[in-house]
Amino acid sequence: MELSGSIPKFRECSGDRKYRDLRQADLQTDDSAKLFRHLENLAQRSGREITSMRVLDFGCGRGEFVGYLRSKGIHAYGVEIDEKFLAAGAVLDSLYRDERPLLALVGVEGKVGFPDGYFDLIIANQVFEHVAQLDLVAAELYRLLDSRGYLLTLFPARFKVIEPHYHLTMVHWLPKGPLQQGLIRLLVSLGFGVAPPEGMSRQMMGKVIAEYAQSETFYRSNKLIAEVCNAKGIALDFRLVPEHMLKMKLARSSGLQHLVYVFVARLLPLVALRNSFKTCAAVGRKHRLEYESGA
Ligand SMILES: C[S@@+](CC[C@H](N)C(=O)[O-])C[C@H]1O[C@@H](n2cnc3c(N)ncnc32)[C@H](O)[C@@H]1O
Repeated sequence: MELSGSIPKFRECSGDRKYRDLRQADLQTDDSAKLFRHLENLAQRSGREITSMRVLDFGCGRGEFVGYLRSKGIHAYGVEIDEKFLAAGAVLDSLYRDERPLLALVGVEGKVGFPDGYFDLIIANQVFEHVAQLDLVAAELYRLLDSRGYLLTLFPARFKVIEPHYHLTMVHWLPKGPLQQGLIRLLVSLGFGVAPPEGMSRQMMGKVIAEYAQSETFYRSNKLIAEVCNAKGIALDFRLVPEHMLKMKLARSSGLQHLVYVFVARLLPLVALRNSFKTCAAVGRKHRLEYESGA
């Protein structure tokens, strides 16, 4: 295969905002507000105020959501494997003083520098699909989560039709390897997918995306993700979030729209199917109370 280590990183070529220095104005986004509502719902399930809980954003990027949570008075931290993203979020430590840095690097073998059971809520938003060794991450999430805590993980479903990072249709359904890489390069050279930055050819962008698909995205079925987490002591529930979203819609709607939602609510197993084709949201709880090393 022609791909080599000299190929630029997809994230750098696609104008990923996580490389840009975070500003206070970036913190209040609709996406953060939505995520926050999910966390509030989980806090309610625990019978606690979210402001009394410790929250970890695992795979936090430049820490936008950590900043959002801090702006609400929540004891939030973020961890990340990419040092450049952490550097872009450096402003958070001057905005919100704490005895610990708000954002920290994930160490060797995926270890994070917080004590066992330190967090009441952990969110991993759009992270699992980038994790090569999900079992290591699941074991660390298990270690970090309080015995009554909740994990919320959101990720693009295995069979989402358009791949959400490089915007090609269905190629991520294929197994990794020469066929997938060849098809990606062909489609990108024909003008599909994320456009190259100025000065880069489509042929090179095809290589960049093929390399990204090969080494930085890992699509797995929900069943496999649930099995990996379960083996490390976390039981995932894929219905809770769709159910909660429907309840919120029912509460806010009226007239014909309300009737439509009532009808959809009857078909909830079908709604849960969206988990296979759209963004999937699963809630995890510990089903084993002591960490068994090597489990
Ligand atoms: C698509 S970004 C999402 C960032 C952020 N959660 C958000 O919603 O904006 C995925 C992030 O996960 C991070 N990541 C990937 N693998 C990781 C791992 N094993 N441990 C921690 N972070 C990881 C990446 O560096 C990247 O910042």
